[in-house]
Order: sequence, then C-alpha cells, then structure tokens
Amino acid sequence: MSGAHPDPARVAELKAREDAAFVAARPRSQELWAAGQGVMPNGVPMSWLRTSYDHPPLFIESAEGSRLRDVDGHEYADFNIADMSMFTGYGPAPVVEAVSRQVARGSQYLLPTEDSIWVAGELGRRYGLPLWQFTLAATSANTEVIRIARSLTGREKVLFFDGKYHGHFDDVLVELEGDHLVPEEAGLPHDVTERTLVVPFNDLASLWQALASREVAVVITEPALTNNVGLLMPDAGFHDSLRELTRNAGTLLAYDETHTQVVGPGGLARMWGLAPDFVTVGKSIAAGIPLGAYGMTEEVAAVLQRPGGRDDTKPQVAVGGTLFGNPVSMAAARAAMSEVLTDGAYAHSQRLGTRLADGLSGVVTEAGLPWTTHRFWPRSGVSFSPAPPRNAVEATTVLDVPLRRLMRVYLANRGVWDAIIGAGPTCSVAATDEDVDAYVAAFGELVGELGVG
Ligand SMILES: Cc1ncc(COP(=O)(O)O)c(C=O)c1O
Repeated sequence: MSGAHPDPARVAELKAREDAAFVAARPRSQELWAAGQGVMPNGVPMSWLRTSYDHPPLFIESAEGSRLRDVDGHEYADFNIADMSMFTGYGPAPVVEAVSRQVARGSQYLLPTEDSIWVAGELGRRYGLPLWQFTLAATSANTEVIRIARSLTGREKVLFFDGKYHGHFDDVLVELEGDHLVPEEAGLPHDVTERTLVVPFNDLASLWQALASREVAVVITEPALTNNVGLLMPDAGFHDSLRELTRNAGTLLAYDETHTQVVGPGGLARMWGLAPDFVTVGKSIAAGIPLGAYGMTEEVAAVLQRPGGRDDTKPQVAVGGTLFGNPVSMAAARAAMSEVLTDGAYAHSQRLGTRLADGLSGVVTEAGLPWTTHRFWPRSGVSFSPAPPRNAVEATTVLDVPLRRLMRVYLANRGVWDAIIGAGPTCSVAATDEDVDAYVAAFGELVGELGVG
C-alpha cells in the first residue's frame, strides 16, 4: 500500500487469479462468445461491449427483481442495473402486464395513444416543465434538444463539462486533451470539435469565459456528473451561478437526468429546485423499454408549435423518428411511473443506498484507508482518495484502473455485478438488504486480501 493505492503487484496477482476463476466457471458463456465471433464483430451485438469489460463477456439467461442470471447458472445481485436503465428492477409485474397488453393490440401505429398524454403530464408533474417530446433513447433526446436550441438562438455551439457523457452523437464525442479538444473516437468528422466547448466542472470562471462570446446555443450537463469519472458533485451555489451566467449570455440550459433521475421522482432538478429550459430523461423511465424524453418551457416549445399544421410556413426543426414515442414505450412508462417508480419505492432504494454507504465506509474505516465513500441517495461507492474529486482531472488522477478492474471481477466471482463505474453501485427499487450485505461482504473480503485490512 502506498498512500491511497494498494501495491500494484498484489493487485495484478489477485486479478490473474480472479480472471482465471471467472473464465473457468463460465464455459457456456465462452461457447456462446466463440459462436458469436463468426457473425458479429467482437462476438457481441454491439462491438464496444467487448471493450467495456476486460474479462470475456457474460451471456445472460434471464433476470428477475434485483437478480441477474448468466447462462452458466450463476446469479448476481445487480448493482449496475444495465447502466441504470433497470432501476425499476427486472420484470416488474405492472410493466410486464401493460407491455404484453399493448403488444397484443399493436406495437406501433405512427399515431398517438392516450398513454402519451398521461406520460407527458406525469413527467411534467415530476420535473416541473410543461411540454414534452419523445424519442427512443436519451441520446436522441439530447440531439433534439441541441437542434431546438440552435434553431431558437441562431447559434451553433454547445457547451459540456469535462467528464460528461450524454450519449453517442457527434457534438458530444469530443474531449479535452490538455487545453484543446480532440475527437473521442474514430469515425467522427474532422471538424467535429468546432461546434463544441468543454470546460472543467465547478469552474465558473472558465464557464463565463466560454459563454462570453455569445456563440453558445445551449449548455447540457447532468446536475451532478455521474459518468466517465464516477461521481462529481457540484460546489455549493454552482447551479445558481450556472443559471445566471447562461441567462446573461442568452444561452439555454438543459439538465440531462438520464442517470440522476434515480435519486427521486423529478430527479435532482426537483430535489435542488433547478430552473432549466430543458430536462432530458431516458433509460429507466419506461423500465428499460426504449424511451427517451425531453421537457421544455413554453418559450422553448414555441419553436416546435405549428398552428398552421402541415402548411405552416415556419421552418420545421429536425426532430423525430418512426418508432419514437411508440405505444409500447408509452404503456411501459405509464405502468413504470404509476406503479413501480412510486415515492415509496424511491424511499426504499434510498434507504438501501445509505445501508451500502454505511457498509463501505465501515470497511474503509476499519482498514484505515484514506478513501472516501460517497452518498448519492440510492447510489454509493468509493473514491480512492481522501476527499471527493471536484472535476474530471482530479477524478482521473485517483481512478486506479487496475484496482477498479480487479474489483469488478472479484465481486462478479462472489455473485455481485457492478460493471461500469459511471453507474454505481446503485440499488434498484427491487434491491434487498441481502443484496447490499453481499456487496459489502465481497468488498470487505477484497480489502482484506489486498493486505490493507
Ligand atoms: C447522462 C446520460 N445521458 C445520456 C445517455 C445516453 O443514453 P442512451 O445510451 O440510452 O441513449 C447516458 C448513457 O449512459 C447518460 O448516462
């Protein structure tokens, strides 16, 4: 152990042992992966799934409640919950019933159903914005928000905070390298960096400098960054200043609550009394049935309103898709919000998040480790640093990728699934005390084996 980080040689030794055990216990997943290689790049339906995990992919047989079951018969208490998209737990009865009924009646009409009115109204009640539109995923909700903002402001640029993730679309797939922007991945246009600005989270001076050019159409941010760098909380007063600075610059403000919606009905926007022009949501809002949505103020929505219908001469904003807002997604969202994502269910997952934080913090304190446990309602987790990071650079410095990778496979071998740092560990509304205790026990065992407990 040196400072906050365990001996790398010990981490590597444990990783090799755990990887071997992981592979040996999962022959059927191996067989399926081999079969997949002939028909899909990397042997998986989305090639990047291979690079998300540094162990061979796990093939899944089924899931129920908080539990995931692989094709080799191993069961996992799931704290990744499909990168937060299954916060409702797997197969909640009201959603199964509503979706089955809707599929039997027709999965798609390209015409609205009554459920869409209920869902838009309920999102409005939760997030405090009156008018809503629907897509199939949060990525496309954010894409449409940008197009609406460009159309309204006549400006092209979009501003994000370093460490962000808002989906897989061009404007957002750029990152800071030193003080300049570069494309995050291959396949993007050569000028992809030209319409995007990225500034450090919690850095109001840089934010103001970037907005002062009055070229920025919209700032999109999560209220607390939950993604590529774990969890970054805003400084006190950050959101008030963000609102004031964007207003002064004539820039719109969008909160992406795709992950943070798990903290309670209405997400952090409601909890912290935020006043955005847009809110975007997705993932668990329809219990994992594809649905993205964005809410907006009446002023913003005016750009979409076409009183003259088809013959209205106003230019049409580039929004929409054939399957967006389809009846199955709407039926799922209605059932999820009315019967699964209830106030009581959020309270349950928050209690478990606290239980998890208490357990992790107990292990860390007993081992005398200079690590921080965060408490984020249903979500908890450990930063390998004495204080929580405030921005992406600080978070990356303390990340300790080899230790994170070891943790993942170590927990998986003990029936706990915690796959992506940006999503957890998060307790779904279906999680139990036993799930949380299993997580804490496995984490404690790991700390003990690292030779620091
Ligand atoms: C904050 C946030 N926004 C948007 C997205 C994109 O969601 P999807 O991949 O469902 O489009 C994600 C995905 O992780 C996210 O975390």
